[in-house]
Amino acid sequence: MNVTVRGRTRHFRTVTFDSTKNAVQLIEQRLLPHEFKVVSTRDYRATAAAITDMIVRGAGAIGATAAYGLAQGARAFRGNNSAGFARHLAIVFDTLKNARPTAVDPVNAMLQVRAAMKGGRTVAEQQALALAAAEEFAHEDVAHCEAIGAHGAPLIGEGMNILTHCNAGWLAFVDIGTATAPFYAAQAEGRKFNVFCDETRPRCQGSTLTAWELAQQGIAHQILADNAAGWLMQRGEIDLVIVGSDRVLGRTGEVCNKIGTYTKAVLAHRHEIPFYVAIPLSTIDWQLASGAEIPIEERHEGEVLGAWGILDEPVPAGRKRRSSTAEPGAPRRAHIRIANPTSGARNPGFDVTPPELVTGIITPAGIFAPNELWANRGQLGQG
Ligand code: MRU
Repeated sequence: MNVTVRGRTRHFRTVTFDSTKNAVQLIEQRLLPHEFKVVSTRDYRATAAAITDMIVRGAGAIGATAAYGLAQGARAFRGNNSAGFARHLAIVFDTLKNARPTAVDPVNAMLQVRAAMKGGRTVAEQQALALAAAEEFAHEDVAHCEAIGAHGAPLIGEGMNILTHCNAGWLAFVDIGTATAPFYAAQAEGRKFNVFCDETRPRCQGSTLTAWELAQQGIAHQILADNAAGWLMQRGEIDLVIVGSDRVLGRTGEVCNKIGTYTKAVLAHRHEIPFYVAIPLSTIDWQLASGAEIPIEERHEGEVLGAWGILDEPVPAGRKRRSSTAEPGAPRRAHIRIANPTSGARNPGFDVTPPELVTGIITPAGIFAPNELWANRGQLGQG
C-alpha cells in the first residue's frame, strides 16, 4: 500500500527480501503509528526473533517472513553436503516455526518452500528454489488479498458502519490485507462508509495499526474501546463485522483470531448482524479436528498490566544514548504501568469462534459458510 511520511508517498510491502544481503526487510510495526521505519534481519535467528518480538506480526506477514527466513537460512549454508544441509534446514524450520505458535501461516508457507526445494538436486539448486518459492508465497499472499477484496466488496453498501477487530490489514499481510481488502475495493468503486476499529487491548493493533492504515488510505473510521461494540450494536449503529483470522479449521469451520473476536461474534449473533472472516488459503489448517487443539499463545502479563505509547517529549537533540536506537527528534516510546502493582494478569492472545456464529468465510476462491470448507477443499488449495 502507499504510505505517506513527511509529505512523501511511496509504495511499501510489509515484508520483502534483499537477496544481495541475504536479509529480510520488515516494517517495524512496534513503532507505528508514531514512526515509520524499515529494519533488516541478517540471519534466520534474527528473523525468528523479529516474529517473536512482534516487529512483524499478523498471520500472512509472519507467513511470508518465515518463508523468507527459511530461504535465508538455506542460502547461508556453505558447502555441498546434502545430509548436512538437510539437518541445518530442519533447525531453521523449527526455529521459525516456534517463533509464535498460533497462526498456521508460517508452517504452511515453509512447507510450500520445502516442497519446492525438492525439485533441486544440489545444495545450490535447492537454495535458489527456496528463495524463488518464498517470493512466490509473498506474491500469492498479495493475489489472495486482491481476490478477497473482489469477493468481499459487494458486502459493503453505501453509508454502512462496519466493525473490525485487531489488524487484518496490509500490515498483517504482504500487502492489501484481508479484512480491509473489501474496504479498499469498495472505496475504489466509489462507496463511502465508516469503519469502527476495536482498540484491541492489550497490544492495541486496532487503535495503532488499523486506524493508521485507514487514515493513510483516506477511509472514514473511529476507534472503539474494546467493550463499546455491544452498545453500538444494540442501537443499530453497526451493520456488518469483518475480521481476519490466524487459523481457520478446514474440517470444522472454527475460527481462531485475536482475543476478543469470540465476544464480538456472540454479540453480532445476538443482534443479527452479519459476521464475516476474511482469509488467504495459507490460514486454513486442514489437519486439526477441533479448535480445542489450537495452540493459543499466552503472552506476558506486563502487556495487560500496562501499555505502550509515546511520551510528549521527543528524543532530545545531541543526547543519543549508545544503547538507544532512537534518533534525536524521534518519538520516545515508553511502557507505563496502569494496573495495581501487586496484581498479576492472564494474557491469552487468541480465542476460537465456533462456526455457527460465522456468517461466511471470505476466501480468494469466494465466500463459503464455515461448514462448507471441507467439501470445497479442492477449490481451496487442498488436494
Ligand atoms: O498478535 P498479532 O498481532 O500477530 O495477531 C494477529 C492479528 O493481527 C489478528 O489476530 C488478525 O485479526 C488476524 S491476522 C491477519
